[in-house]
Amino acid sequence: MNNSRPIGVFDSGIGGLTVVRALMRHLPHENLIYFGDTARVPYGPKSAQVVREYALQDTDELLKHDVKFIIIACNTVSAVALDVVQKRAKVPVLGVILPGAEAAVRATKKNRLGVIGTVGTVLSNAYTNAIRQMNPDIHVFSQACPLFVPLAEEGWTSHPATELVAKEYLFPLTLEKIDTLILGCTHYPLLKDVIDSVLHKSVTLIDSGEATALSAVQLLEERGLRNQSVLKPNMQFFVSDIPHKFAEVGERFLGQKLGKIQRVSGFSA
Ligand code: DGL
Repeated sequence: MNNSRPIGVFDSGIGGLTVVRALMRHLPHENLIYFGDTARVPYGPKSAQVVREYALQDTDELLKHDVKFIIIACNTVSAVALDVVQKRAKVPVLGVILPGAEAAVRATKKNRLGVIGTVGTVLSNAYTNAIRQMNPDIHVFSQACPLFVPLAEEGWTSHPATELVAKEYLFPLTLEKIDTLILGCTHYPLLKDVIDSVLHKSVTLIDSGEATALSAVQLLEERGLRNQSVLKPNMQFFVSDIPHKFAEVGERFLGQKLGKIQRVSGFSA
């Protein structure tokens, strides 16, 4: 087994770069291949059946690069398609739901958890099911926040409009007296400050991308897949479309310049 093979990460678009950012912090010597299906984003409002089909095509794209391990950065895909990706991949696959759920279960003191995500993620109940399997005494309250995705991409991370939207979405969760909230979407870590201030800093926020990066470290270790090289890793970014402002938005999500971005064809709705 050649451990310098890359880790493959995919997402519905650009949002998964927040997970890559966490991976780069925790696994600074791993080579990475990222694929974002920017031609067909967003996945959040789409049916589970379509997301499962797209997820398989995204997986095949990564497998072309002989990846040693696949991370599904997208919460919506992790929620509805982890099983099909695992079956297709023949390499270990990690989604973001389980690590996020585990971190939240560890964090809650009052056993009252909130989950926010896309419509697809919330409707799937994937977080709720994972949490309740770990601890059936925990109460889980979910809220879809679809407008957060375009707001984060627009860069309106501290805009009054975003605060207004956040108040509207989060109010029902405050009534439930949650003490911990899972940011169950790739885009939400960018809105952490607004969410924190709307909740008066009284709720612990769980970034599922960060939790996933920590799980990835453990999994690679357990399976003897860590890259032993300490050289600067190779990062490659592939997308199915290069929209206007892509580099600018991507830079904000990744926290640094993306470098070369390659477009692959064949991803049509
Ligand atoms: N990446 C998606 C997620 O984490 C958000 C964007 C979309 O709807 O495709 O659920």
